[in-house]
Order: sequence, then C-alpha cells, then structure tokens
Amino acid sequence: MPSKPIKKTIGVMTSGGDAQGMNAAIRAAVRGALIRECDVYAIYEGYTGMVDNLIKPVQWESVSSIMQHGGTAIGTARCQRFRQFSGRLRAAENLLKYGIDNLIVIGGDGSLSGADVFAQEWPQIIDELFKQGKISALKRKRHPELRIVGIVGSIDNDMANTDMTLGADSALHRITGAIDALSSTAHSHQRVFVVEVMGRNCGYLASMSAIATGASYAFIPESPPPDNWGQTLCRQLRTARKAGRRDSIIIVAEGATDRRGNPISSSRVKEVLDQNMGMESRLTILGHVQRGGAPSAFDRYLGTASGVAAVSELLKNDGESRIIVMKDNRIKAVSLRETVAKTHAVAEAVKNCDFKQAMALRGSGIMNSVLETLSLPGAPGRGCAGKQRTLALITCGWPAPGMNNALRTAVRLGLAQGCRMLGIKQGAEGLINNDVHEFGWMDVEEWVASGGSKLGANRTIPNEEEFKTVAATVKKHKIDGLLMIGGWTAYIIAERIDRMGEIYPELDIPVVCVPASINNNLPGSELAIGADTALNTIVEAVDKIKNSADTSRRVFMVEVMGRYCGYLALMSGLATGAEYIYLHEQGIDLKLLQEQLKKLTRGFKKEGRDIGLLIRNEKASEAYTMDFIAQLFDAESGGLFDVRKTILGPMQQGGDPTPFDRIQGTRLAYDGMLQLFEKLKSGDKTSAFIGFCGSKSSVYPMRELGSMVSRTHQRPSGQWWESLVNIATGLAIKPNI
Ligand code: F6P
Repeated sequence: MPSKPIKKTIGVMTSGGDAQGMNAAIRAAVRGALIRECDVYAIYEGYTGMVDNLIKPVQWESVSSIMQHGGTAIGTARCQRFRQFSGRLRAAENLLKYGIDNLIVIGGDGSLSGADVFAQEWPQIIDELFKQGKISALKRKRHPELRIVGIVGSIDNDMANTDMTLGADSALHRITGAIDALSSTAHSHQRVFVVEVMGRNCGYLASMSAIATGASYAFIPESPPPDNWGQTLCRQLRTARKAGRRDSIIIVAEGATDRRGNPISSSRVKEVLDQNMGMESRLTILGHVQRGGAPSAFDRYLGTASGVAAVSELLKNDGESRIIVMKDNRIKAVSLRETVAKTHAVAEAVKNCDFKQAMALRGSGIMNSVLETLSLPGAPGRGCAGKQRTLALITCGWPAPGMNNALRTAVRLGLAQGCRMLGIKQGAEGLINNDVHEFGWMDVEEWVASGGSKLGANRTIPNEEEFKTVAATVKKHKIDGLLMIGGWTAYIIAERIDRMGEIYPELDIPVVCVPASINNNLPGSELAIGADTALNTIVEAVDKIKNSADTSRRVFMVEVMGRYCGYLALMSGLATGAEYIYLHEQGIDLKLLQEQLKKLTRGFKKEGRDIGLLIRNEKASEAYTMDFIAQLFDAESGGLFDVRKTILGPMQQGGDPTPFDRIQGTRLAYDGMLQLFEKLKSGDKTSAFIGFCGSKSSVYPMRELGSMVSRTHQRPSGQWWESLVNIATGLAIKPNI
C-alpha cells in the first residue's frame, strides 16, 4: 500500500510593493492548500512578519471576499533586517516554531531574490540555529530544506521568463484611465502633457500605455532616445501638429535614461519642451495611483491560477525552488534561481548601456518601433513590391471594443507603406451598396480609446445575388486586398469571398481576418479583440451586485453573453468567486442542480454563508433556463436565501476598450496588415485568418476554418480555458475539510 504523503505546512506571504491581484493569489494559495489537506499559515507584513513572528494559521473563511480588492489583505513591507544573515536566522527560527518549511512568496524581483538566497542558505541556517540551541536535533532533521515557490506580484512586469506579472494589467488600467482623462483637456487647450509612469528600470508600462492611449512618444530605459532627443522630439511633435493633431502626450518611464545611462526625468522633458516648443507643457506624475484600486479581471485570473499552481508545485516534492509564470497564455513553473539570474541580467544590461541586449532579453513586450509608425505622419513608403496598392478595411459582426484601435493601426501602417487606405461602411452592406470612403492620416487620430466600430458593423452576409455588387464595388475602387476585423460573420464572409474568386475575378484578392468579438469564439486566437473589455464590464457589474447584498442572505444569478461560447461566463465566474458557472460546453442536468442546491444550502445553514453567486452563459441550456434554475433554488432553499436574477445584456458590448483590447487591436491589426503585404508581394490571393496564441502570432489558411470549428455552435473545436472550470468553482465551494 502506498504510504500516505506527509502533511505539508505552508506559509503564504506577500512582500515588496503591493500589486493588484495579490489577494486572488493569497485566496487561491490558501484554499488550494487546504483542499490538498495542508496546514496553512499567513505570514503578515512580508519578511518583517517572518522576522518578528507575525505568523497565524488561516482557514477557508479567512480569505473570503478579498479577491475584488486591491493591495494585499495580509500586509507587505520592504524589510531591511531580512537582508542581514541575523534577520534570516530569526525568520527561520520563527518559521520552524510552526513547522513551516514550504513557502509561497508573492512579490517582486527583490522579494523573490531574497527568497532564493534564504532557500540556498537554509542548511547553514538550521545548523546555526541548532548550534545556538534554538532548535532541537529532531527539528533540524525534520526540516532539512526550505521549499519556495514564488508568484511574481509587481506592476512593473520586469521579471524574466514571464509575459505578465500580477498587477501590471491593473496598473495599465489606471494609467490609460488617467491619460484618457488628460487627453480631453490637452485636446481642448492644444497642449502637450508629459506623464511619468512607474516601472523602475522596466519600460513595459510606459511602452504599453503609449500604444493604448495613442501617445506621441515614450521614453523607456531599454531603448533610450538618440543623443539629440530634445530636437528630435520637438520636430516630431511639430510634424504631428502640422498634420492636425491637437494634443500631444509624452510618456516617461520613471527609469528612463539617455544612451549613456544618465536619467531623463519627466521634469527635464518638460523643461526641454517648454524651451523649444514655444508653448507651455504640463507635467503629471501618476505615482502610487498606479498600484491602487480594484484588480482587473486578468489579474484576478492570473492570481488565482498562479496560487493553485504554486500549491501543486510545493506538493511535487522535487526539491528545487520554483516560480510560477505565464508564458504564451499558459501557467508554468520554472526555476526560481534561473529566473532571478535572467532578470538581473536585464537590469545589468540597462546599467551597462547594452540596450540591444536589454531589448532582446525583455522579449516581445516592448513595442516602441510600432509606436513611432502610429504616432508620426511620415513620408509614405514605396508601397508593396514597388507598386501603390489599395487596401480596404471593414468591420463585420457585432462591434467589439478595440476594433477602432485596430482600424487606426491598419490605416496608419498602410499609409506608412504608401498604400491607399479605404474604409467600407456598415460591414458587408457597404460592399453591397458601394459605401466606401478614403482614409487620411488624421481621420483615425482619436479612435484609439473609443468603443464600438467607427465604420459601423453588422451581421449581414451577402447572398449569391449580392456578391455581384460586392464584386462591382471591389472593381470600382480597385481594391487589392481586404482586412476584415470582426467576429463569426467576418469569417463566413471571408470564406465566401475566397470561393467567389472563381466566379468573379474581381474577388480573387487576399482577405485577412482579424479576430474581434466579445464572445471570444474565434479559431486560431486564444483572445479576440473585445473579450477583455466585456469581461471587465461583467466583473465590475458583479462586484456591485454582490456588494448590494452585504446585509441579506441572497443568491444572485447573473446571465452573461457569449452565445454558445462559455469564455465570458467562466472567466467572470472565476474572477468574482462564483459558486457555480453554467456553460453550454458542459451542459446542465437535474442531478447536477440537485447536488449544487444541497451544497449551497449547507453553506448557508452550517458555514455562515450569506451570499451566493451563480453565473450562467446565455445559451447554457435550452431546458434549464435562468428562470427555471432561479425558481428551483428559490423554492427549495427552505427560506435560507432568496434568489435574484440579473441579465447584464448589451452593456457587455459597450464601453471604452481596456488597455489589453487596445494593445491586442494594435498587435493583431499590425500582423494582419503584414500578412496582406506579404500576400500582395508574393501574389498569393488566398484568404487567411490570424490570431495570437499566447504571445505568438499565427496565420491559418481560410480553407482550414471548417476543420477548426464547430459550425453548429460557432466556436472553436477545442478551447484552452475549459479546464479552468474546476479551479473556479473548486475555490468557491468549501469542501468537507
Ligand atoms: O516595484 C513596484 C513599484 O511600484 C515601482 O514601480 C516603483 O518604483 C516602486 O515600487 C515604488 O516603491 P515605494 O512604494 O516603496 O515607493
């Protein structure tokens, strides 16, 4: 018989600067560990709490209702004493009082480097504690090593081996919100604003917020400006002013330097502008606002998935300390030591002014060259393969937030390449009715932050007869290629155009589809433009709904969009702590509902629960409708709770796009246009769709569409997020522990 694994004792702590999403990680680590029958302790106030013995056992309820809040519920600090060996000695002595030799450390680069040193020194530390008579021989024998799993919590997004760190997405929400607000006053006064953002020596927040707000320039540590940056900047601003831009936003990363490593401060940038532009600029230092406020949906997901993965890593028992990272949209564990070393290598490269190396080590996160194309009306390029081409843009399906930034990117990239850029109004109706307009550089200037589609979009799919007039429109405007930004409708139209080329030679042109749908139901792309905004809208609404019940015993049932794709339901359920999530992919039956009802009532009766949350996808089941489930639970609750229903409706499609959707709009439109250029150069007239799987962009021939989707349910055949259902509800329902 296999021996029962020894029960682990795990300490959970947060350290260094706080970051939004830390609470989701704490909740998931604590509950994940309790589910796996571990003893769990919270170490309060970071390493200070370890040195001063602020360590307390935690239970399931200790981490209730914390996920939606910013900061960290268990406190954090930057502790000098832990940097000394004597401090680490006391910290270890305190940990051993509770038998803790497994740690989940949620923190930034400094905190995780400290953890790595601590784990390496552990054998020496326990020998010393034994020598000093502070621990017994048995204790020394029982705890020969300290296992550490790190979760990167830092708004800076400066850790190697991971695409995102906890808090970076929420910080981008704060920054884009602030810059959107500044833009309107800057626009009214035709002013230049210099905005300083955080990030230490990492330019991620500066670079990404510049893309997401349509800023004119970003100073970042990894890619310093040329020596004559003052002149260059002023020249660029003047050129854009001449083209018609009214407001200019310059973003300065707090760690920005020149090519010799001398700091370029935001106040210096303002000074240079004031002296050379003949106008007074304004300076805004965003400061700690960036680290505050509610975590975004993504940070709640990242925290939750990382917390669960951290526990699994600790239970593997293979000795090496690990760090949980997100690479290509997947949660993974990698070596803590190697990651810390690689992170320090970037900082070293920046310090040594080896900027090429710094950019290479940072990976794909920094997009400064893209920013230049989007913000500068330059001399147009020579076209594709030496010829001026005409490219048309169209949005089809329901509008998705972020579409406008995708259009802006495509227009400006096309113009920079010397193409004539056309916009087709009202989706396919514009093709049928010849509603086509030519774009100038300034036409898309203010599109970066607005929701919906400025071109108009709908679900019209031309019929056989109408394709004749579609072909006439394409011929009339001499369209060489088409970029379609949209949802399922766009893909079906593109597929038909691909076939119609055999009947109408005018339609024998390349079409590239860019995924944009709040449903996130498109093949070849794990995240479509618009889904993140819808998700955040749902999460904010559910936070408010839950809040409204602070004093009553109530179960809320919220129905969300997505058609037959459960992405929005699942991810919003995960990010708001829903007890049950109903998806079409999983189905609903009476037995399931009876079991759920039993567990829910037990929670209200025996565990002091006073609120419950159920999230249902709009097409989860034809038989078990929202009304049916709500009435069943209400009637069978035995008076323990009542059930309130909310259908969120079209608000999920509206609103300003989130930073992620703006950035995703830029990335995807940029790649879509590059595909079109390639096709025009090579003479390839087949259609395709593109997408991002993690940070990698891929392209698929349109003829493969059928093999990658379920046409009946209009969703991809396999969906990456489906396995998250168990994590989501597993952490919300207390097991019998
Ligand atoms: O590392 C996170 C961070 O917010 C940096 O972006 C910033 O430089 C620093 O922490 C600010 O630290 P403190 O909160 O200690 O002032």
